[in-house]
Amino acid sequence: MCCLNLFSSLLIFQCTRVWIPDPDEVWRSAELTKDYKEGEKSLQLQLEDETIREYPIDVQSNQLPFLRNPDILVGENDLTALSYLHEPAVLHNLKVRFLESNHIYTYCGIVLVAINPYEQLPIYGQDVIYAYSGQNMGDMDPHIFAVAEEAYKQMARDEKNQSIIVSGESGAGKTVSAKYAMRYFATVSGSASDTNIEEKVLASSPIMEAIGNAKTTRNDNSSRFGKYIQIGFDKRYRIIGANMRTYLLEKSRVVFQADDERNYHIFYQLCAAASLPEFKELALTCAEDFFYTSQGGDTSIEGVDDAEDFEKTRQAFTLLGVRESHQINIFKIIASILHLGNVEIQAERDGESCSISPKDEHLSNFCQLLGVEHSQMEHWLCHRKLVTTSETYVKTMSLQQVVNARNALAKHIYAQLFGWIVGHVNKALHTSLKQHSFIGVLDIYGFETFDVNSFEQFCINYANEKLQQQFNLHVFKLEQEEYMKEQIPWTLIDFYDNQPCIDLIEAKLGILDLLDEECKVPKGTDQNWAQKLYDRHSGSQHFQKPRMSNTAFIVVHFADKVEYLSDSFLEKNRDTVYEEQINILKASKLPLVADLFHDGKDSAPAATTSSKISVRSARPPLKASNKEHKKTVGHQFRTSLHLLMETLNTTTPHYVRCIKPNDEKLPFRFDPKRAVQQLRACGVLETIRISAAGYPSRWAYHDFYNRYRVLVKKKELANTDKKAICKSVLESLIKDPDKFQFGRTKIFFRAGQVAYLEKLRADKFRAATITIQKTVRGWLQKVKYRRLKAATLTLQRYCRGHLARRLAEHMRRTRAAVVLQKQYRMRRAHQAYQRVRRATVVIQAFARGMFVRRIYHQVLREHKATIIQKHVRSWLARRCFQRLRGAAIVIQCSFRRLKAKRELKALKIEARSAEHLKRLNVGMENKVVQLQRKIDDQVGVLSSQPGGGAVGRLHGHLKAGSLVPCSCRVLMASGPGSCNALEGFRCLLRKERRRWSKGRGETC
Ligand SMILES: Nc1ncnc2c1ncn2[C@@H]1O[C@H](COP(=O)(O)OP(=O)(O)OP(=O)(O)O)[C@@H](O)[C@H]1O
Ligand SMILES: [Mg+2]
Repeated sequence: MCCLNLFSSLLIFQCTRVWIPDPDEVWRSAELTKDYKEGEKSLQLQLEDETIREYPIDVQSNQLPFLRNPDILVGENDLTALSYLHEPAVLHNLKVRFLESNHIYTYCGIVLVAINPYEQLPIYGQDVIYAYSGQNMGDMDPHIFAVAEEAYKQMARDEKNQSIIVSGESGAGKTVSAKYAMRYFATVSGSASDTNIEEKVLASSPIMEAIGNAKTTRNDNSSRFGKYIQIGFDKRYRIIGANMRTYLLEKSRVVFQADDERNYHIFYQLCAAASLPEFKELALTCAEDFFYTSQGGDTSIEGVDDAEDFEKTRQAFTLLGVRESHQINIFKIIASILHLGNVEIQAERDGESCSISPKDEHLSNFCQLLGVEHSQMEHWLCHRKLVTTSETYVKTMSLQQVVNARNALAKHIYAQLFGWIVGHVNKALHTSLKQHSFIGVLDIYGFETFDVNSFEQFCINYANEKLQQQFNLHVFKLEQEEYMKEQIPWTLIDFYDNQPCIDLIEAKLGILDLLDEECKVPKGTDQNWAQKLYDRHSGSQHFQKPRMSNTAFIVVHFADKVEYLSDSFLEKNRDTVYEEQINILKASKLPLVADLFHDGKDSAPAATTSSKISVRSARPPLKASNKEHKKTVGHQFRTSLHLLMETLNTTTPHYVRCIKPNDEKLPFRFDPKRAVQQLRACGVLETIRISAAGYPSRWAYHDFYNRYRVLVKKKELANTDKKAICKSVLESLIKDPDKFQFGRTKIFFRAGQVAYLEKLRADKFRAATITIQKTVRGWLQKVKYRRLKAATLTLQRYCRGHLARRLAEHMRRTRAAVVLQKQYRMRRAHQAYQRVRRATVVIQAFARGMFVRRIYHQVLREHKATIIQKHVRSWLARRCFQRLRGAAIVIQCSFRRLKAKRELKALKIEARSAEHLKRLNVGMENKVVQLQRKIDDQVGVLSSQPGGGAVGRLHGHLKAGSLVPCSCRVLMASGPGSCNALEGFRCLLRKERRRWSKGRGETC
């Protein structure tokens, strides 16, 4: 890629688009705003968001930014077709295809890059399978079916076994891709017999997923083992059987799960079906009740029904010929592991020994389910046998030792059962028919690097290192073949060889060898082993010691540097289980359990049908350690890996690299950082590098001529030999002869040359296009102008007519509106007037009434006043009159008194005369006689009453004439009856007196 950069200085001019590194998006596109001249220290760039940036250039290395491919190449089906082959171009092409066209598959040379869409796409139906069947790889869109078809076709054409190697990190879609590939074979090849072998092949998946898959934080259905399935075909390329090999099951998961993770699905499936009558004897309850299934927290997976999946697992077992009774025994063993995890171990006071209660229900269940002796198991769970040269003795164990031993036993039982099931599946898929060829599908964990990397990551990365080596060799071989075919010297290609790294791991006194050695040392420790590694491998370019640690070591893998922590490497490599415990299991009454722990089972995976094929490695055989290691995990893994490599080397490989586009499992979301990480790790960029190192762009003479004939001069076109034309035009266009090679049928270009030619072609086209555009645009503009003018006039005419009509209409409407307004206003004024008038009349009526009433009241008041005055005046007049009359009377009285006095005087004088007296006496005498009689009557009556004495006396007085008034008073005081009589008498007297006075007055 460095030559690309040197060359790219020729192509760096204004408007050139380049890629610059970016911390968030990994690579960002930018455009030059100024031509670049060799030796300049910086580039003037404009980013896509229009910000301007100065990009510094290291003058010494002259490291210019990567160039962007012409747009015609973006979205290509094959990344190697890109003219500029570098990381940003690959990333951009994948991103554009994935996000803009929803294409999850892209070729990268012989590799199919599959990006996990996290969404069900309608591209896997039967119709799609048939569409791909029989097609050439380049003729159809990239697809896993295209790869499967290619493998199938090559198997038939070359009569050679094939392999599809699917790799990628956890959750990238390896298992799904492998399943689609197997489905493709099952569909297109059909079954040779009526045993429905293809159905059986597909049925192995639910079983293997139940016992080997688990929920992890990265994937809800993560395969915790690697597998290689060989599908066998007969001479007519019909499926006749299959065989499966598994690698490195993650046993630790049986006894420990991290937060938010689960144990193997089968445990939860069994718990979900625990209530079924046939599983009563398993004594299971829900998964939360068991230590081995509840450490991760949530025991369920969203969208997964464990009971339903369990049904599918059982059906798959039945389809593969595992009898019901065998199935029950398998489930018994699985249930027994759960019970073993719940066994309560109590530490004794001394801290050196432990015990298990004889009543421990779980231990009883465990022993009963496995058909082993309870007391023996109870004893050997807490004790171990020590054998020395002279004697054998039994030793107690501490709590931690017992727990470790119990966990180791659980892991061992599960691993054995896993192996047994795999064996059984293989037996069911085995065929007696002669296998002609096979296609193997390898679903294996991709390169892994975490914050803390342990033994498992080491083995996985070791496997990936081997696979990458195999891949590099294969790509190199293909390249070589192509060059040979085209008669081009192939010494020009150089490629990365990771054999030194593999040797560091597996060669004599390599990392694995030293680990096995340390495991054999009685007091071997992880630290001692790490120290030995430092001592031995410090000089290796693939080994480093971290500065701050004495227990970790770094291996420089092809994909990345990985730091491994040596803790527990020894324990994991030894994978010790106490023999006494195994012996008890061997003695089980249950044949399946005894069978599981039979000695023969502990060996490395059995050789498969493929082992019949003679295999020779492409590389010289490895100098393995000559010491026979006793079945350490590392040793077993190395052996099985060698076997796998041998098999792969005899097949034609096809590569599928799965990419996980984001960690959130979101559909069609592309995180460039994560994608680049994986592209580096899975070797896609290495493929690119190999391609870019040689002559990555290839054009057939015919295609080249067709595409670039615009660059050929007119007189050269007269030549009929197209090859000669291509040669002469290339030599005139590209001055450096190393930038291209003429093969037999193709022209080979170094990276960037096609882009350069594309640029020349684009420039030529651009110039021609500008001339054509200029003329056509002028003509178009004229036509357009004329058309516009005519149209404008018509429009104007119509507009004016329309405007006039509108004006007339407006005026009419205005006049009508004025009339309407007039009428309306008049009506409103009339109504208002009427209203005012009515109101005025009413007001007037009221006012007048009020005034009249006021006058009336005034008149009334005056009249009343007059009456009052009249009365008052009459009263006053009467009073005045009465006063006057009174006064007159007084005056009269006074006068009359005066007159009477005078008269009296005269009368007195006269009375004194005898005559007068005589006259008076005539009347008086009669009167007195009457009165005398009356008085006598009265006196007579009164004398008979109380006080009669007084009356008598009065009578006497009367008779006397002068004493009458005094006597009356006395009479009154004497009693009421006399009083009344007296009063009557008095009145009589008064009357007489008055009459007498009157008579006298008249006389006067
Ligand atoms: N082609 C696809 N179409 C739709 N969904 C997919 C596809 N490939 C993968 N997935 C989704 O991604 C999930 C993870 O895929 P898969 O189990 O194949 O990953 P894996 O690479 O095998 O991971 P592990 O290494 O953990 O086993 C699947 O359960 C599925 O939901
Ligand atoms: Mg998987």
